[in-house]
Amino acid sequence: MICLGIETSCDETALALVDEGRVAASVMSTQADLHALFGGVVPELASREHGRLIGPLYDLLFKKAGIEPEAVDIIAFARGPGLLGSLLVGAAFAKGLALGLGKPVIGINHLHAHLLAAGIENGLVFPALGLLVSGGHTHIYRIRSPRDFTPLGRTLDDAAGEAFDKVGKLLGLPYPAGRLIDDLARRGAPESGMFRCPYMDNDNLDFSFSGLKTAAATLIAGRDDLKAGQGEDTPVLRDFCAALQDVIALTLQKKFARALGRHPEARSLIVAGGVAANSSVRAVMTELAAEHGLALSMPSPALCTDNGCMVAYTGWLLAKEGWLHSLDVSCIPRGTPIPDDMHCTTSARTDIRP
Ligand code: KG4
Ligand code: ZN
Repeated sequence: MICLGIETSCDETALALVDEGRVAASVMSTQADLHALFGGVVPELASREHGRLIGPLYDLLFKKAGIEPEAVDIIAFARGPGLLGSLLVGAAFAKGLALGLGKPVIGINHLHAHLLAAGIENGLVFPALGLLVSGGHTHIYRIRSPRDFTPLGRTLDDAAGEAFDKVGKLLGLPYPAGRLIDDLARRGAPESGMFRCPYMDNDNLDFSFSGLKTAAATLIAGRDDLKAGQGEDTPVLRDFCAALQDVIALTLQKKFARALGRHPEARSLIVAGGVAANSSVRAVMTELAAEHGLALSMPSPALCTDNGCMVAYTGWLLAKEGWLHSLDVSCIPRGTPIPDDMHCTTSARTDIRP
C-alpha cells in the first residue's frame, strides 16, 4: 500500500510517499526565512506560500519516486492542529487529488503523526509513553496503538519550543531560535543555579514555561554583556544558552519520569516534535530510557521537525487497519479538540481491546 502524505499545518510545505511503511520519496520547502523577517509565522503569508509551492512540490515528489500518481492507494493530509488557512490548502489539494484519482482520503492528527514518525526508523512498541515537544505543543500521552492516544499532561501556557523561540528573540537571534540556541549551547557551559526547573512543586504531569521566559527576560535585561552581544556568538551567550537548554531538557525529563512512575505498564518511550532534535533533550531522554531499561524511539532530527513522511507514515499505519475519512473531513485549528470521526472499512482491526 502506497500512501501520499501532505503536511501544511504551519510554515513547512512537505509531501512524502510511504510504501509499506518505508519512505519512498519526500520533498519539503520551508518558509522560515520569510517569517524570520517578522519574528514569527504570519498566518496569511504561510497559506499563500503553501498555495504557491504545493503543486510544484507534488510534481517533484513523483519525479523523485519514479512512479505515477495513479500508483497511490491513499491520500493523507495533516488536518490539525495548526493554522487554519494553511491546513485548508493541504486539505483542498488532497481532496482534489482524491476526486481526480478516485482514491480515499484520511485526515491526520499532526501531533500523533509527530510521535508515530518515530516508527519509520525505529519501529514502535506499545503500550508506550509519548512526549511531544514542538513549537506549539508540549504533551505527554499514553499510547496503546496508532489511534489510541490518552493525554496525560500538557503545557498550561508556552510550549517548550516557544520558550526557545521567545527567549531567542530577546537575545536577538532569528526565528525559530531553537536550533541556533542548541548550536550555541553545545559550545557553552551552563552556569549552575541560573534557572530553576519551572512548575515542579505540584503533583501533575503538566508544564508551564512562561515563568522561565520571564526569568530569562529579567536576566537579559540586567546583563549588558548579553544585550551588547545581541545574537553574536560570544562565550557569555553560549553559557546562557547552555543554562537555558539544560533547564528545559531537565524539566521535560523530570515530568516524563513522573509519568513513567505512574504508568509502569509502558514498554517504550517515544519522544518527538521539533524540540526532540535538541541535543540536551536527546541526551536526557536516552539516560531516562536506559535507567528504566526501556526502548526509546526518537526520530532522527530531520524527522523531528515538521515533515511529510510523518503524515504519510501515519496515514499508512491507519489505512492498513482500514481507517479512512469521507471527503467532508474538516480541518481543526489549534486549541480545538480533533474529533475521532474516521470510519473503518475492514473487520481486521487490531486496536480493539477486550
Ligand atoms: O515540530 P515543529 O517543526 O513544528 C511545530 O509543530 O511546532 O517544531 C518547531 C519547534 C520550534 O520552536 C523550533 O525552535 C524547535 O522546534 N526546534 C528546536 C530545535 N530544532 C527545532 N528546539 C531546540 N533545539 C533544536 N535543535
Ligand atoms: Zn509540528
